[in-house]
Amino acid sequence: MSEPHPDRNRRKLYGRRKGPKLSQRQAGLRRTLLGELAYVPGGDPLEQFPNTVKEVWLEVGFGAGEHLHWQAAHHPQVGLIGAEPYEMGMAKLLTKLEESPLNSVRLYEGDGREIIEALPDASLGRFFLLFPDPWPKTRHHKRRFLQMEMLDQLARVLKPGAELRFATDDKSYLPYALERLMAHPEFHWLAQGPTDWRSRPADWPPTRYETKAIKGPPCFLRFVRRDRTP
Ligand SMILES: C[S@@+](CC[C@H](N)C(=O)[O-])C[C@H]1O[C@@H](n2cnc3c(N)ncnc32)[C@H](O)[C@@H]1O
Repeated sequence: MSEPHPDRNRRKLYGRRKGPKLSQRQAGLRRTLLGELAYVPGGDPLEQFPNTVKEVWLEVGFGAGEHLHWQAAHHPQVGLIGAEPYEMGMAKLLTKLEESPLNSVRLYEGDGREIIEALPDASLGRFFLLFPDPWPKTRHHKRRFLQMEMLDQLARVLKPGAELRFATDDKSYLPYALERLMAHPEFHWLAQGPTDWRSRPADWPPTRYETKAIKGPPCFLRFVRRDRTP
């Protein structure tokens, strides 16, 4: 058995893993297709993809995976890693992948932090965090995915010039995220004016949450990891 993490509170994965009972087909796909497409944290991520893949992107909390599937289908030279602990979300993406197969997707049914912490430096070409759980109560803000320590990790694993994309409709998560991203020396906001964060870029399809559960106007943030090479 593996050792418990020294900081047990930080290690806690918030949110649901279990939801409604999976159908027989979904349960079967978790046994078969998830096994074939499983991402194993650690080492050079490129090694877990076919050699047609030249760059790796990561989406944390992909929900039902529509955005991830679209990105993979539109960028055949990119390997997409997706992390999602919610079983039903994973089952929905697996169903979509059975219908429209893509061998450039690797999936992790667990906490995205475990993937990021195990990635080598400068190994990711893009990172997506779309409509993360808002944790609106002040005492729960520490459960939000986007923390300063997480930005340090992301600055480490993103290549210079790589993009970090973040979306939220939550009026308190938006300033929370912006405050941290703008204070971080390694990230630079690409926006020139309000239309840049109010309108969804053409290469950024809506997620299931955005289509079905949105509570306020969505904001789309695009930051780049600064390139400090002389
Ligand atoms: C509000 S939902 C949004 C899902 C999807 N991005 C969308 O826009 O439809 C947030 C998702 O993040 C997932 N999540 C929460 N914490 C996570 C973590 N540490 N690692 C990976 N996924 C996480 C949840 O299971 C949930 O499916």
